Order: sequence, then structure tokens, then C-alpha cells
Amino acid sequence: MSGPLLSIRGLVAAYGNIEALKGVDLDISAGEIVALIGANGAGKSTLMMSVFGRPRPRAGTITFDGHDITGVPTHHVARLRIAQSPEGRRIFPRMTVAENLQMGADAAAHAGEAERAAGLERVFALFPRLRERLTQRGGTLSGGEQQMLAIGRALMSRPRLLMLDEPSLGLAPLIARQIFDAIRTLNRQDGLTVLIVEQNANHALRLAHRGYVMVNGRITLSGSGAELLARPEIRAAYLEGGRH
Ligand SMILES: Nc1ncnc2c1ncn2[C@@H]1O[C@H](COP(=O)(O)OP(=O)(O)OP(=O)(O)O)[C@@H](O)[C@H]1O
Ligand SMILES: [Mg+2]
Repeated sequence: MSGPLLSIRGLVAAYGNIEALKGVDLDISAGEIVALIGANGAGKSTLMMSVFGRPRPRAGTITFDGHDITGVPTHHVARLRIAQSPEGRRIFPRMTVAENLQMGADAAAHAGEAERAAGLERVFALFPRLRERLTQRGGTLSGGEQQMLAIGRALMSRPRLLMLDEPSLGLAPLIARQIFDAIRTLNRQDGLTVLIVEQNANHALRLAHRGYVMVNGRITLSGSGAELLARPEIRAAYLEGGRH
């Protein structure tokens, strides 16, 4: 494949007459971790969800692996093996851990039994805690365990692109670190391509190869994680004495 795995050009998306994305360009190459940072309400979650067609873009294009997926329904996008762990980690609270993981595997329509078993082992290697809690209902897991399950479920669909919306939100620092370490491991060992939306700009930019800063529905800055971390305006707005 030539060119980026995911390419977004001039994306406009709105809720009623509130324009949440005002012409966004963003690229993710295969094998990259890309961080998207920005203040509350900047449009980060909207960007991630627009890839799944909700909200449906009003203008611009989204291309995945050379296919135009702009406005394509969610289940078609999932079939291209794009997976997400949405904001607020929407696991199924009444289902057990095992059933939640099975739901992820079901999204990978062509996976055989052997692949499913290998996928489970991969998830357990990353998050051993999930193996110990297989029969526990999702809703009774701790916040950190629910995040592990949300990521594990997304991984069970064998994604080519994994999109994570605020995976560290509300987690104790030690648990957040485990989540970031797991993402790094997936990228290094399996070459998984990742888009991570984070309020924790410091962690996200250390993890990511490249980052984008979103302000009010527009990308205002982009660069390598290290470049962005060093920029005084980023330090002032997102790192020092800010929200972290
Ligand atoms: N379902 C919705 N209906 C109407 N407006 C919405 C809806 N979802 C988001 N918005 C608005 O769109 C804008 C962008 O929201 P979005 O959730 O994408 O921001 P965000 O960058 O993810 O913020 P946060 O860091 O708080 O999660 C905000 O002004 C928000 O109020
Ligand atoms: Mg959000």
C-alpha cells in the first residue's frame, strides 16, 4: 500500500447547526501511533466517531486503505477492521468478561476458532487480570479493568486501525501507565496502527510517533510527539499548571 492507512481531508461535521469539525486534515500511516489532543469540546470524539459515519460528514473525505469510507455505515466500516474503544468505555455491563470479548471476536466476521483462541491469548498476555475475571460481569469490574476489557474487546476484532478515546480517563496513574504500556507493546510487537485521543497530553505525546492539536474543530498544530512536547504553547495549554 502506498500513502497513509487513514487519510482525512477537509472534514466538516455538525450536530444540528453546531459545527463540531470545521475542515480537518489528518493522516495516519500503517504502524504509527498518532495522538490527538485538545481541550474539552474541541471535537476530538466527533472526529473519531465520524470515521464510523456518526455523525455523517457534511463535507470532506475519509479514506481507509485506499477506500473512500466517507459517510459509510458503521457496520461496513467495522468490516474493514477499524475498531474503537469509545469515550466512557462502553462495555456491556450485564455480560461477562468472556461474553464481552466474544462480541469483539464476532465483529471479525472471518476469524476462525484458532484465530479467536490466539486473539484471546494475546489479550490475556496484555491484561492478565482479564483472564482471572472471565466469568465476572463487565459492570462489576473496576474502572481500570473495564478499560482493559474495552481495549481487549476491540483487539478481538483483529483491527488494522485501533482508535482509543481517552483510555486513561479517570484511572489511577499506575493503571493508566499499564494501559499506555499495553498500547506501546501492541504497536511494537504487532505493528498495530493506533489513533489515541487523550486529555493526558503528556503521556499521549510520549507514546505517539506524531500528534495533532485540535482547537475548536480545527487542527492548529501537528508534529512529532517530541516536537509538540517541546513547544511552549503546548506546555502552557496542556502540560504545565493546566489540567494535569
Ligand atoms: N450528540 C451531540 N449533539 C450535539 N452536540 C454535540 C454532540 N456531541 C458533541 N457535541 C458538541 O460538539 C462539540 C465537540 O464535541 P466532542 O465530544 O467531539 O469534543 P471532545 O474534544 O471529544 O471533548 P472532550 O475532551 O470533553 O471529550 C462540542 O461543542 C459538543 O458540545
Ligand atoms: Mg471526547
